[in-house]
Amino acid sequence: MIILVTGATGLIGSRLVEALLAQGHEVIGVARESARLKALSIRTRTVSVDFHDATEVMDWWPLLYGVDVVINTVGLRHERRAHHFRNVHVRAPRALFKACVLAGVRRVIHLSSLGADPSSHSALLASKAAAEANLLKLPLDGVVVQPSLVFALDAPMIRWLMGLASLPRLPVPAGGRQTLQPIHLQDLVACLVRLATSEAYARRIIRLAGPRPWRLHDALATLRRAMRMRPVASLSVPTWVVRTTAALGSRLRWPFNQDTWRLIETSPSTEGSITRTLLGHPAKDLDQFIATGEAEGARSLSAWVWQRPLLQAAMAAFWLGQMVGLWPAASGLPRTLADWLGGALALGAATLAIGSMRQRRRWWWTLQALAISMLLVAAWAGWAPSEGLLSSLWAAGPALAVLWILGDRASD
Ligand SMILES: NC(=O)c1ccc[n+]([C@@H]2O[C@H](COP(=O)([O-])OP(=O)(O)OC[C@H]3O[C@@H](n4cnc5c(N)ncnc54)[C@H](OP(=O)(O)O)[C@@H]3O)[C@@H](O)[C@H]2O)c1
Repeated sequence: MIILVTGATGLIGSRLVEALLAQGHEVIGVARESARLKALSIRTRTVSVDFHDATEVMDWWPLLYGVDVVINTVGLRHERRAHHFRNVHVRAPRALFKACVLAGVRRVIHLSSLGADPSSHSALLASKAAAEANLLKLPLDGVVVQPSLVFALDAPMIRWLMGLASLPRLPVPAGGRQTLQPIHLQDLVACLVRLATSEAYARRIIRLAGPRPWRLHDALATLRRAMRMRPVASLSVPTWVVRTTAALGSRLRWPFNQDTWRLIETSPSTEGSITRTLLGHPAKDLDQFIATGEAEGARSLSAWVWQRPLLQAAMAAFWLGQMVGLWPAASGLPRTLADWLGGALALGAATLAIGSMRQRRRWWWTLQALAISMLLVAAWAGWAPSEGLLSSLWAAGPALAVLWILGDRASD
């Protein structure tokens, strides 16, 4: 069969492409940047399409010649400049679905989300529901799949939950009534492969989830046990703290944000029988997600989720302290034009050098470079004793190295 998979670089899409290839299907992987598919060592025909721009039927129709099945796994976790839910979740999929009707594609599977709801306060969940409606009203064998939270050690939200589970106190947020019913990525992919190759569940919304809902606190305690960490006492976290963190998460694009909190709060669940039928056996449950051999790796990744921001905050406080300590001692602005130019050049060079060393988290390293450069300029212009500066760098250096090395390992 020829199967076109959009979002082929994503958590779910990339594993799905591998599973379909392993079953002998011909796969066309659609990605925003096809080079990223090659970087993932996924050997498949690739096409580059940006959903933000592909909002007309003619953007899709030429790609669908001979295609039997289309599986759309594209999704945004956050809106970004020039990447809005309206285009990526609604308009581009609508154009793709209509093109599938014209091209005679046999089946279209669209990955939505458990909790998708046209009246949701979450723009993400409302846009998901709009796409579902667009597919189901077309004269087409369309299947909307609503997965619950998907478990994989490299899934950002799962890392975040594991981070909570590894804290010295187990948080019980906002009264602790919320539930999760996560599904393991392997099970979800197996269900999607099965759906792609069958005719079952046409024109339906199906919910795929693990065998049972878990109270959030029990889920965290179970993840903690699976990571071979000793049990700890619980800590009740008031609703306002959770909401403030979620609002901050939306601003800073954390996995935990207002959309994810709304989803967790509504605790959507499902009976799970369709997952079992598609798999031909019961789905893995949360207490089976982390295998014994994965416990140690999971533990160090999870701790890093909260250790990194803590270290970053400490570094920010350190630099601020340095600045506050330095500037009152300054005898004035740079005295000569040469001083000023030299300082500006040193600042620019250091910022560029350190900022470009890592594409990811460029802003963070740029800030560090800026702070170091300012200290150097200050010392050079005689505003601060250089011994003080050297001793500060001696202390800051190892902290920066830890952030760099472990930060990289955590994002592998
Ligand atoms: N993971 C979960 O727990 C979960 C649970 C329920 C539902 N879902 C849904 O399942 C779908 C896939 O989730 P996921 O976890 O695999 O997400 P993911 O890892 O973030 O992958 C999203 C994919 O969408 C692509 N994409 C984003 N914007 C695009 C654009 N403008 N044009 C083309 N492609 C674009 C990404 O490409 P780049 O690599 O170029 O960014 C990536 O391939 C989403 O719709 C999500 O809402 C996920």
